[in-house]
Amino acid sequence: MEEAVRKLLEAATGEVAALGDDLKALEQLRVRYLGRKGEVAQLFKQLGKVSEADRPAVGKVLNEAKVSLENLLEQAQNRLKESASQRRERFDVTVPGRKPLRGRLHPITQTAQEVSRIFNWLGFDAVEGPEVELDYYNFEALNIPKDHPARDMQDTFYISEDVVLRTHTSPLQVRVMEKRKPPIRIIAPGRTYRCDSDVTHTPMFHQVEGLLVGDDISFGDLKGILTTFVHQMFGSGVGLRFRPSFFPFTEPSAEVDIQCVMCGGKGCRVCSHTGWLEILGSGMVDPEVFKMVGYDPEKVTGFAFGMGIERIAMLKFGIDDLRLFYENDLRFLKQF
Ligand code: DAH
Repeated sequence: MEEAVRKLLEAATGEVAALGDDLKALEQLRVRYLGRKGEVAQLFKQLGKVSEADRPAVGKVLNEAKVSLENLLEQAQNRLKESASQRRERFDVTVPGRKPLRGRLHPITQTAQEVSRIFNWLGFDAVEGPEVELDYYNFEALNIPKDHPARDMQDTFYISEDVVLRTHTSPLQVRVMEKRKPPIRIIAPGRTYRCDSDVTHTPMFHQVEGLLVGDDISFGDLKGILTTFVHQMFGSGVGLRFRPSFFPFTEPSAEVDIQCVMCGGKGCRVCSHTGWLEILGSGMVDPEVFKMVGYDPEKVTGFAFGMGIERIAMLKFGIDDLRLFYENDLRFLKQF
């Protein structure tokens, strides 16, 4: 009996080794050896004929043989399955990998960061304020009372009679001065909103406000700081001019134009053949605004300025359509 078991195992081992990669043949082997009427079952049947004294020992041998056969066949099956899946997934290790797309900052963010960087370098700290703003900070305290015609220029989103979406970042001038004593040197970048939408306007856009207040601050300081900014942002060769203007919260006021970055000042479609492009509003802080925050206009002076980030970005990157910034077309965004 033991001899029969040994032969059976030997035969099975040989057959399994000769299987190749044929899973079906393996299954046939399993049935033949371990099936209900298989060879092992036949040997178990003969157990009855073994003498009672030998039966436990022979039974043990048989059981062990059954377990080794099961293991043998299971290992063979695993091996075959593995090599089958390897054949399916065989790949060329020399093929270059697929590069994941690298994300990058939106051109508006890049421009805002560059503006902030320049003013930080000039000693201005960045502050933030609410986008849902009180009418008081957006208008009243900036010397724009309810019936002021300047309100018509700013197509305001009203939340309620006293609450608006800020139409500019200028309310930060008031919020900062209310809390701090001079000297003050801040910029306030952020989102702003106007009920306006066409080729050159989006309902949401970005501005950066600037404010410098102290002793004996003059229009010369304003010119110096803004000239340095323009030269840093657009290159030291770019000409600029200060053009008299009006804002309710500054007196005197000036708008700053730079030489057209498209034509270099010769005159083209972008600059309406003037050679100049307006980039920001500025002026000396109006005494009325100082009074609103409890400063003595006889003692302190200062200047403020405000600019649209989209406009700066368009000029810096030579983009002629504002809407490109908000369509999020990867072909556009990838270029920055
Ligand atoms: N707030 C003005 C606007 O949105 C821009 C501006 C002009 C800001 C003059 C200023 C300033 O601080 O002095 O059009």
